[in-house]
Amino acid sequence: MSKNSELQERRVHAVPRGVSNSLAVYTERASNAELWDVEGRRYVDFASGISVLNTGHVHPKVKDAIARQLEKFTHSAFQVTPYESYIALAEALNGLAPGATPKKTIFLTTGAEAVENAIKIARYHTKRSAVIAFSGGYHGRTLGCISLTGKVQPYKAGFGPMLPEMYHLPYPMAYHGVTTEDSLQALELLFKADVDPAALLNQRQLLIVERDARHPEPASARRIHLATPACISDQMTCDPDQPRDRRTTIGVVLRSMLKRASERLRHHVKHEIRPAHAARHKRRHRLQMAPVEQAEVPGRSAGQ
Ligand SMILES: Cc1ncc(COP(=O)(O)O)c(C=O)c1O
Repeated sequence: MSKNSELQERRVHAVPRGVSNSLAVYTERASNAELWDVEGRRYVDFASGISVLNTGHVHPKVKDAIARQLEKFTHSAFQVTPYESYIALAEALNGLAPGATPKKTIFLTTGAEAVENAIKIARYHTKRSAVIAFSGGYHGRTLGCISLTGKVQPYKAGFGPMLPEMYHLPYPMAYHGVTTEDSLQALELLFKADVDPAALLNQRQLLIVERDARHPEPASARRIHLATPACISDQMTCDPDQPRDRRTTIGVVLRSMLKRASERLRHHVKHEIRPAHAARHKRRHRLQMAPVEQAEVPGRSAGQ
């Protein structure tokens, strides 16, 4: 039995199936873009830790930094006894983040934990609880993240119920026959069927989807941004080639869509639902007030 198959056999017995493996290739060592398995085979590692190894395997600077840190301490929990490197890294990232507003950074252990915290922060700040995600998207494996994830198989099946107020829109993609207009229509339908659009107006911030105005099915639509009213108001001078202005344009489109949907809803309530309700109420009232001998009995006209 080869070393890879031996390890695969041990893995089947020791590790649950919930964490699946793409390949039964067991890593012995790796360097930069290459990886060697336990049988000495060399691979070019295009997977690179699912695209998170931006510096390649065992970058000398990363290795030195880890070695230096191991001489000092491994873990003290920043929440208990903080340390400077946490702050220094936060400052460096804050300096890189775009926009003129002040920035702060929190470090979390996994992508799923970051998504969970993003939901908490958005709900706390906006005082609104509904979250919109795209079908087909993947957001992690915690309960909150699988609720946002737009794939039943293999992530959600058997794990329900999901978190309430998580909504999915079709992701615009030519390959799947979904246009940007389809997605925007689905958004409009969402505000008819599930979410009151009036509750979203006059909020300090509006959740918008970045869309590249130059391309009908943009790759950049994966990213979700918060647009501020200031950003929305300078739409008139926007340059569609600038990412910030593209967000602005979409912010304006969504804002006016929500406004129109809300106005239509109000109009519908005022001119159709309320009059119909009032007429029904009047009929019922007339019936109750009519003398017994004049009251209409179903299937018989009054006085029969
Ligand atoms: C887009 C996206 N979001 C969230 C996650 C979850 O990250 P993690 O596995 O670190 O929890 C991933 C992981 O692959 C991801 O690709």
